[in-house]
Amino acid sequence: GLRAGTLAVQDHLQELQNIAESHGGNRASGTPGYQASLDYIKGQLDQAGFTTTVQEFPSLGGTGKNLVAETPGGDANQVVMFGAHLDSVGDGPGINDNGTGSAAILQAALDYAAGGETPTNKVRFAFWGAEEEGLVGSTHYVESLTEAERGKIAAYLNFDMVGSPNAGYFTYDGDDSDGVGAGPGPEGSAQIEQLLNDSLSAAGAPAEGTDFDGRSDYGPFIEVGIPAGGTFTGAEQSKTPEQAEKWGGQAGEAFDPCYHQSCDTLDNVDTQALERNFAAITNAVKAYAAQFPQP
Ligand code: PHE
Ligand code: ZN
Ligand code: ZN
Ligand code: ZN
Repeated sequence: GLRAGTLAVQDHLQELQNIAESHGGNRASGTPGYQASLDYIKGQLDQAGFTTTVQEFPSLGGTGKNLVAETPGGDANQVVMFGAHLDSVGDGPGINDNGTGSAAILQAALDYAAGGETPTNKVRFAFWGAEEEGLVGSTHYVESLTEAERGKIAAYLNFDMVGSPNAGYFTYDGDDSDGVGAGPGPEGSAQIEQLLNDSLSAAGAPAEGTDFDGRSDYGPFIEVGIPAGGTFTGAEQSKTPEQAEKWGGQAGEAFDPCYHQSCDTLDNVDTQALERNFAAITNAVKAYAAQFPQP
């Protein structure tokens, strides 16, 4: 594309919306809309020099696909991963859920490659299929790795819904600072939370913790003890008055009123929330390409 940074993220979202519109209104796993989404992202990453692989797996009686892209350089024994699910539900185009996470990690990858640096660690980007069918793609990926291959993954950062229209700013609670709900993540998760919190604070949006409750693709990674983290701007839950005070937006309304609906289109994305999360992602790619945990 001709644009860089956050404008390019929006161009990718426009492309995903066009793909949904021309393929029956959605980009669900196993459909032509999913395949077109994967082809688009793979084309961009191939052109930028990433090594790409498509991994197939069975899901709901059909075939699901993950797209995995990694830097040709960097130590293959020390891998940092960034992931987002690329499939939508069947009821809509899935632009906030999860065009935003997909477009943001895609552009972070492209911007990193354009910088021309050779990473210390290998940087791997995953676009999961069939998340909406129960984390099927990410689960298949982790199960397909040997014990040794799992041990080489230093960190997994997940981005699922990062442009909610009534945005909250959440990072996965690696240290279980609130002491309730799901416990802490694997050792190393708290450092990821800290790095993302620092970036979001610098961008003007101090984050709250959200539990590792297993509702997105970090689930299979934490299950095998891989340090994890990520950001999230909220789904069907409603924003509290305290959160509206802190972040703006509408108290008593869902973070994403179009969650899993046909109205999850480009108009359902808060560009400022997307921009802030994209900044956090690009910072994390730079930091963890160089070193994990960060100095
Ligand atoms: N994984 C959920 C979905 O795709 C959304 C979600 C993301 C919920 C992160 C909680 C935390 O529908
Ligand atoms: Zn969803
Ligand atoms: Zn999602
Ligand atoms: Zn915490």
